[in-house]
Amino acid sequence: MYQAEDFISKNYKIRQEKFSFEKSASSNIALVKYWGKFDGQIPMNPSVSFTLNKSKTLTKAISEYKNDDQEIVFEFFFEGKRNPDFEPKIYQFLNNILDYVPFIKNYKFVFDSRNTFPHSSGIASSASGFAALAKIIVALEKQLTNEEQTEDFWLKKTSFLARLGSGSAARSIEHPATIWGKHPDLPSTSDGYAVKPDFEIHPVFKNFKDSIVLVEEGQKKVSSSAGHQLMNAHPFKEIRKKQAFDNTLSILKTLKNGAIDEFIRITEAEALSLHALMMTSNPNYILMQPETLKIIHAVRDFRKKTGTKLCFTLDAGANVHVLYPEGQANEIRKFLSEITEKNIIHDEI
Ligand code: PMV
Repeated sequence: MYQAEDFISKNYKIRQEKFSFEKSASSNIALVKYWGKFDGQIPMNPSVSFTLNKSKTLTKAISEYKNDDQEIVFEFFFEGKRNPDFEPKIYQFLNNILDYVPFIKNYKFVFDSRNTFPHSSGIASSASGFAALAKIIVALEKQLTNEEQTEDFWLKKTSFLARLGSGSAARSIEHPATIWGKHPDLPSTSDGYAVKPDFEIHPVFKNFKDSIVLVEEGQKKVSSSAGHQLMNAHPFKEIRKKQAFDNTLSILKTLKNGAIDEFIRITEAEALSLHALMMTSNPNYILMQPETLKIIHAVRDFRKKTGTKLCFTLDAGANVHVLYPEGQANEIRKFLSEITEKNIIHDEI
């Protein structure tokens, strides 16, 4: 277990040089959802996710020594074009991590980022985007520090920094599955960073598929930040916390023993709880679309009819993630293409 103080950079020497980095980070899909947070990006409950294989952000960075250390200076390019719209969020991120990596004020950064999935697809790029930026900052620190640290330390520091950009980004550093948020029954867990389960994931989940049906492409209607905020005074806050803490243990058990029917039950229950929380907050809102519900029903009917082990989950939007074992991929992809005209991204863990 690391404490926040452990992540404050030590024994480093500013070098008057220019460094280039290129890092990629994957998106992740939560099975047990993070919804609600305290100050400092501390989650209200633990969450568990699969890290995806194909949906990634790739970021190139140049960090050039500058003569003063008064300000955070950077430019952000998206797909080769300067994009000032992203800059306030990135400034906020760099400012949030400053206490841990103060050397970032000694360099001017140029970031150039692109996603392997369409930006407008409605897949959240914040997790993979901040995870890639955190990897770059840690790569720079490794150039500057004399501190001997284990690889585990650097992974956890990367997750810790990524979290300060977007909570779910903490889960985009390691794979294939991660847990973020302190659980009293899981001694290695932390609110500060994500960890991998301390057991081998059951082979039934090997190369597990995630086909993302893009029900609604474009910007989210209600930001996750606004949604997290509404949990503070949510009438079901305490019961939700208990549910998520319980589901964290239960889903981990299924990842260990391969009990896929139980995995399906919990995964779908979590997705519906997340959206039920949105529908019962004050103000309330609905992100599911008729097509979302159509797919959910079709997934359940198909499972009942064929015995295939597919299930759905949702993030904070209308898109449906359909999860299923590798061996059933042909059958399930054919089924998906028959029930929807929407674009589908076929990813895997
Ligand atoms: O990381 P954020 O603040 O965008 O929140 C993500 C919240 C959900 O995607 C809805 C759930 C999760 O655990 O990823």
